[in-house]
Amino acid sequence: MKKKCEKLIALITALCCIACTTACGREIPSVNDTDTNFVVTGGETINTAEGEDGESIKLVPRTTAAQEFSETTDTETVTSGSNVSLVTRSKEELDRINSNKKPAKKPSSGSGTGTGKGNGSKATTTITTTTTTTTTTTITVTTTAKSAPTIQLSYTSAEIIVGQTKKYALVTGYYDEVWTSDNENIATVDQYGNITGTGEGKCKIRVTDRNTKEYGEIAVTVKKPQGIQQIDGITYADGVLIANKSYALPSTYNPGGLTTETYNAFQSLVQAAANDGYSLRNASGFRSYETQEQIYNNYVYTHGQATADTFSARPGHSEHQTGMAIDVNNPSDSFNGTPEALWLKEHCHEYGFIIRYPEGKQHITGYKYESWHIRYVGVEMAKKLRDAGIAKGDANITLEEYFGIDSIYR
Ligand code: DAL
Ligand code: ZN
Repeated sequence: MKKKCEKLIALITALCCIACTTACGREIPSVNDTDTNFVVTGGETINTAEGEDGESIKLVPRTTAAQEFSETTDTETVTSGSNVSLVTRSKEELDRINSNKKPAKKPSSGSGTGTGKGNGSKATTTITTTTTTTTTTTITVTTTAKSAPTIQLSYTSAEIIVGQTKKYALVTGYYDEVWTSDNENIATVDQYGNITGTGEGKCKIRVTDRNTKEYGEIAVTVKKPQGIQQIDGITYADGVLIANKSYALPSTYNPGGLTTETYNAFQSLVQAAANDGYSLRNASGFRSYETQEQIYNNYVYTHGQATADTFSARPGHSEHQTGMAIDVNNPSDSFNGTPEALWLKEHCHEYGFIIRYPEGKQHITGYKYESWHIRYVGVEMAKKLRDAGIAKGDANITLEEYFGIDSIYR
């Protein structure tokens, strides 16, 4: 009876050990009962979905009893998911097995394949095991990308304009998205999938699932239109997006915030100003059509429409809706002539910005002087404008003058 109880306790203890190590997933169960022998059939439990790319999982050295397992089963089978069972052996059976034991602990190896997260369409995970005489087992999990795209995007090809930002949604499914461009001189992409055209040409934008390595791709063509062109209801002048009194944006145009390039350029500008001892900040950046509508209507209510039209854009006509305009520090006449305003006027072109409504150009831009409102056009275009201004002896040349367009509500 006592012996039976001891056996039962030993059995429960061993079961617990195996259950624990199985739950942990990567340790080979060890047994320590010499009378009742536990044999693991089906080998180690390996959760293939947990294996990071290239991860090397080192298993603990086996105990004596675990070596017994190695010897009696001889080969190990690596499978996906839990696959451990117990067999109770009689003393006779145990003696017979032990008498058939192979004398040497020769190195053995095995391999198997499984699919990540149990979906056949996903990337392949290969598991290789190598067992040495020191009874240390190393398992290497290698996940390689599928050779064909499996993540569906709303478009597989797209055309965008230099400086324009677009986002193409994933059609279905949840993915741990990593966005990359194979040529950032043509288009960049941020972590949210916002693609910005940076130069003419073709490139590929890829979204990859961080875990399964599945991917989807968009073939992007970036164009730089010459002259005045309307694309998707948006006006471009030599590729520069124009929003003024003559050229409105669709009410639905919404880049969702400052464009990546504008944001990054402003960060650099703020840092440069700080290095020179000036503190600049974004007081108002992106404004949606609806936000501008509220602001404008409020000014019309308080100042009357004729006056409001001299300093506030009607909805659809504001550069703030482009995500490429920023009001710096203090959007009011009291900012004019401050050291910060003077620094901004002197240096903003170095970061691709222009003072969009310069002094003395109200009859051209349609708006009174705004020393605080800067517009991102890119370093190249900012330089072109500056050079054209120098050539004309006009430091305040406007986009309207440069492109020969007007700014009038019709
Ligand atoms: N203050 C500028 C003109 C705007 O409202 O967009
Ligand atoms: Zn502004």
